[in-house]
Formats: sequence, structure tokens, C-alpha cells
Amino acid sequence: MADHGNLVTIFKSMPSPPRILAIESSCDETACAIVTGSYVEASIVASQIAVHAPYGGVVPELASRHHLTSIVPVVQQAMQQAGIEQLAQLDAIAVTEGPGLVGALLVGIQMARGLAAAGKLPLYGIHHLEGHLFSTLLADSQNPSSEAFTPHLALLVSGGHTELVHVQGLARYRVIGKTRDDAAGEAYDKVAKMLGLGYPGGPIIDRLAAQGDPHAYPFPRSMTQDKRNFEFSFSGLKTAVMVHIERYGYPQTERERANLCASFQAAVVDTLVTKVRRARQALACDRVHVSGGVSANQGLRHALQLAAQEEPFLLRVPELRYCGDNAAMIAAAAAARMQAQLPSCLYVHASRSIEVQEAHCS
Ligand code: KG4
Ligand code: ZN
Repeated sequence: MADHGNLVTIFKSMPSPPRILAIESSCDETACAIVTGSYVEASIVASQIAVHAPYGGVVPELASRHHLTSIVPVVQQAMQQAGIEQLAQLDAIAVTEGPGLVGALLVGIQMARGLAAAGKLPLYGIHHLEGHLFSTLLADSQNPSSEAFTPHLALLVSGGHTELVHVQGLARYRVIGKTRDDAAGEAYDKVAKMLGLGYPGGPIIDRLAAQGDPHAYPFPRSMTQDKRNFEFSFSGLKTAVMVHIERYGYPQTERERANLCASFQAAVVDTLVTKVRRARQALACDRVHVSGGVSANQGLRHALQLAAQEEPFLLRVPELRYCGDNAAMIAAAAAARMQAQLPSCLYVHASRSIEVQEAHCS
């Protein structure tokens, strides 16, 4: 097996990076992409936001049903955009194998299995969070900067996960801390629901926070006392916002609403940045990569840029269009695995840790 610690070596030693069609359907986005190495030829995302918005969160059964109707047109659109007429023009198929809603995952997985069988192509099952790790490498130009997947500290922040991962190389991941309760994105969505702001709450609160005073209300920065603890907890913060509303009522003016959003966002961002700084120092890492839906947050991006300049460390964040769920990141992860000659395998799971690697491949 090749040394997969350094992808630059691998990318350079291979004649050409593989061309991969990937599918992502773990939650409320039906996505298909065609990627060569980390160059994105096509990335189609059919969002179900309008379907779930009336409920203030994702309804699993509705998600499965909508994946079923969207999957074929989304795959066709991606193939058309990339000029793929025959499956023989591809080197492999990839699909998100988990974590996620099983009924939603299975729609993408069955489609991917069908394509792999029809084209006699290898099928790579990719961990959703490994996909997010690769979102920082995606590029829309033919000549992407061949940035190495070098060892780094990764902050994965999404609607389902908040984790600090020590990435030691491809397929060598150590979770050094994660949330004990709500994920950061989940806290955003729930607070937005409390305030009647709409779904998903992250982008809405982010926008309102930019106009408010982050010091207006002193919300808690949970679990930041112990400097050696890299876990997170956001449910107390959510409760603090609820108690605030019970005590003072719903914000009556736009100013009050913006202040509440800004104070909530400051608590989330401070907590994340504090933990990133400490974990990076503890691991002596000079690179920090941030990914997942919440990595689109302007307050978080700004605070991390300041921390990166101050300490200093190298910061990598995905382009905004690749922060949320997409299939290009799944394809890029599969391309790296293929180039490193890791086995192609698939194991459907609702919640397996990113640390578990290949145990299911024999
Ligand atoms: O990665 P993602 O698309 O799906 C999961 O794997 O969960 O992340 C979705 C989450 C949602 O909770 C959404 O509210 C949050 O990312 N999000 C944001 C922003 N954009 C999306 N949170 C804060 N600020 C944003 N700008
Ligand atoms: Zn995600």
C-alpha cells in the first residue's frame, strides 16, 4: 500500500487524478458531482429547504421521498454539465455511506450501486465528515493549487456535528473533542426557531448578528474553563437564550433582535475559537482547516482569521459554495483514496465515528 501520509507525493506520482462521480444524500440535499482529483467539473445540489422549512427542521420521511424524486435528474444534470455521455468516461463512483438519516442515505447508495454495477466501476463509500475535510481543497479551475492534505487540526462544524479532529494524513483521523449534546449548527437552528426566524437558522442569525451588539447579553461560553478539555456543549447556551426570552419577552425591535442574535453568535464563535486555539497549541499544529455548514458563518471566519494572524497559524476554509453539503467533497475524498490505493468499500451507517477506518473492508 502506498504511503498515504502525504497526498502531494501521491498526486504527483500518479499519471492523472481519477475522475469520479459522487452522490450525497445524507440529510436534506440531493447532490451529485463530477470531480477530477480536486477539480470540480460539475456540482449540482438540489436543496429541500422549502420542504422542511414549515416544520422548522428536517422531517426524515419527507427527506427520503424527495431524494427519490430528485436523484435521477440531479445525476443527469451533473453528467450533462461535465460532458459525460458514457460511464466509461469515469474511473469510479463514490457515495456518502453515513452518518446521516438512513432512509435518505439509502436513496443515494442504491443509485450509486446501480451506476457502479452498470459501468463496472469501483464504488467508494465515503464518511460524510471525511467529505467535509476535503471541501477545503475543492477548486473550480483546471489548475487548482495542489495544496497538500498535510497534517492539521480540523474543526468540523455542521448541523449534525461539532468535532475537533487531528488529521494525521489520509484516513488517519483522531477525534480529540466533540459536542456532548447539540451541534453548533443545531443550536443556531433551534435558537432561530425559538425566535420565529425561519429555517435553516444559521444563515439568518449570521446576517442579523452583523447588525447587532455582541456584548449586549452575556451568554455562557460552556466548557471553556478547563484548558485541557476539547469537548463542546451548546445546549446550555440554547437554554440561556430561552430563559432570556422568558424573562424579558421576545425582542420588540429590530435592534433588540439583532443584539440577541449577535450575543448568541458571539458565544458560539468565542467557544469554537477558544477551543481551536488551545487544541492547536496542544497538538503543535501549524495548520487549521474548518469545514461543515457553519464554516460559512461570517463571524466565525472573521474571528478565526484574526486568531490565525495573531498566533500565527495557516487557516484554510472552503469556498462558500462548498461549506454546506455537496457531492464534490465526497468525490474529492474518493479520488484521494483511489490515488492512495486504499480499498473501495461501502458500509452503511447512521452514526459511525470518522476514526473507524477500513475495519469493514476485507
Ligand atoms: O454541513 P451541513 O450543510 O449539513 C450537515 O452535515 O449538518 O450544515 C448545515 C448546518 C445548519 O445547521 C445550518 O444552520 C448551518 O449549517 N449553517 C450556518 C450558516 N450556514 C449554514 N450556521 C451559521 N452560520 C451560517 N452562515
Ligand atoms: Zn454536512
